[in-house]
Amino acid sequence: MCGIVGYIGSRPVLPVLLDGLSRLEYRGYDSAGVAFMQGDRIRICKKKGRLAQLEQALSEADLGDMPIRAGIGHTRWATHGAPSDENSHPHLSANGRVAVVHNGIIENYIELKRYLCAQGCCFHSETDTEVVAHLVDLHYARDCAGDLMAAVRQTLAELEGSYALGVLCADDPDRFIAARKDSPLVIGLGEDGHFIASDIPALLGQTRRVLIMEDREIAVIEKNQVRLFDALGRPVCREPLEVQWDSAAAEKNGFEHFMMKEIFEEPRAVRDTLTRHIRRGTLELPAIDWPRALRQVCIVACGTAYHAGMVAKTVIEQLCRVPVVVDIASEFRYHDPILDEETMVIIISQSGETLDTLAAMREARRRGGHILAVVNVVGSSIAREADTVLYTAAGPEIAVASTKAYSTQLAAMYLVAFDLARRLNRMSDNQVREQIESLLALPAMLDAVLASQDEIQRFAASHFNAHSIFFMGRGLDYALAMEASLKLKEISYIHSEAYPGGELKHGTIALIEPGTLVVCPLTQPALVDKMISNIREVKARGALILGILTPSCQRAADVCDAVFMLPDVPARLAPVVAVTPTQLLAYYMSLNKGLDVDKPRNLAKSVTVE
Ligand code: AGP
Repeated sequence: MCGIVGYIGSRPVLPVLLDGLSRLEYRGYDSAGVAFMQGDRIRICKKKGRLAQLEQALSEADLGDMPIRAGIGHTRWATHGAPSDENSHPHLSANGRVAVVHNGIIENYIELKRYLCAQGCCFHSETDTEVVAHLVDLHYARDCAGDLMAAVRQTLAELEGSYALGVLCADDPDRFIAARKDSPLVIGLGEDGHFIASDIPALLGQTRRVLIMEDREIAVIEKNQVRLFDALGRPVCREPLEVQWDSAAAEKNGFEHFMMKEIFEEPRAVRDTLTRHIRRGTLELPAIDWPRALRQVCIVACGTAYHAGMVAKTVIEQLCRVPVVVDIASEFRYHDPILDEETMVIIISQSGETLDTLAAMREARRRGGHILAVVNVVGSSIAREADTVLYTAAGPEIAVASTKAYSTQLAAMYLVAFDLARRLNRMSDNQVREQIESLLALPAMLDAVLASQDEIQRFAASHFNAHSIFFMGRGLDYALAMEASLKLKEISYIHSEAYPGGELKHGTIALIEPGTLVVCPLTQPALVDKMISNIREVKARGALILGILTPSCQRAADVCDAVFMLPDVPARLAPVVAVTPTQLLAYYMSLNKGLDVDKPRNLAKSVTVE
């Protein structure tokens, strides 16, 4: 989704902006642009397409010798108006005095546009953002006697919706303004200047000292100082955060794609997530405020994180005998969910900034739920607003397709399930200790899966032309199948569906024809005989079966056309290990089709609009 960068300081401004934008590419975008202060005017360059097109345009522009003092930049993921040069950010006020980059949606932009047109403003784009540039300029000249900060504050008071903003003003060349509401924005504190960016990885090439902006805060960014204010204009004092991730963590390190690098990081990421919360064989979680009379658990998330929640539902219900509902965050607010103070709400999010999930979390709090968030990004909005946070230790995940984040979300949710089972006396200390030992064996099993990745590579090489691929499983294997199917469609663009083994025959089996590939995770010995029957049903219609098997389900190998053997993982923990071959399958399908693995079409990494 859209990304923002900004810099003021003594380094060459354009390379800093372009470096930041390139680190934001992973969020997904369709155009990019920069605005910068040169002499006493703002210059602007923006292009539809990839960053390379913007770089090309800048290299062809006559930039003269005058130093560039400050700049803001943007990658746009179109919402209002098609991808085009005109709709790209930054947007300028009519007289060129004010330039704005924006992430989020200005919901009342039509009324504001009508008002501004009546004031004589001419619009050059179809975006919601352009109103901000005109409004700031109008207030600057008409109402605020040339006080940029006051003009921005007056503008923000008129905006409805969400925003992260960078505002540059030609009359005020020694600073720029940043502001946020419901869209992430961080400030980077450097040795020779200061930065803003939509997320921490974008800053890693420059600094690891960051200030995370809170909702409705405004910051004045100057070369030698950063001043932060709350919505009422009162100064805010905040200690900077020292980010632990280093710049290499957000680079490819010799891998062709971030996705592959991140799949190969799964053993490390799972190990770090577990060891962060385990001390000498016992659980050491942040104090989770489980309701005294726990009536239900409600897990809320989107996409891959939702699928991690599906696995957790089965595990918690089996171990704790407490009902668990799993809700898609974008639906949660609109179906009048039944929550009260006896409900534990668990929010799962890699980025901690997914707007649907954030909004659902706020609604859950309003309804009295206790909130535990399982989040990867330290200091993200969800992490800051939850009652308790359990951090995963995936490190920065750059590829749009989530891989190591899912594995670590599972690892974290097992810990939560064991913690609850212990509290409810459903498991003894010894049983928890045994489970922890099994968890700690997972990284080595992941290493073993990765050592056989060429088997998946070969399989993908002969099936990447498939039109449609089904995933079929029962119990935890069905939850896993949902994630496997999502991964395949999002990066290979192959139509795919995930079904419980017994459900296909109620309609969807009509789509199975000779040669249709059906991928079956088979890790649940208690369900394997039923799955063998379901496999026979689709094979009778000509389907080709790839089985992803644990040794305890070995007897299903006879009905499979191809088999990937997993290590001997306990059934309950199998999703952590069984997901990896399905991620590799999606990766190699996409690679064979010559697609952009890390930045699939239409998708954004961090979905910060509803
Ligand atoms: C999956 O590969 C996607 N990246 C997507 O489904 C993602 O999991 C979803 O948008 C939720 O993101 P979050 O974990 O950052 O909240």
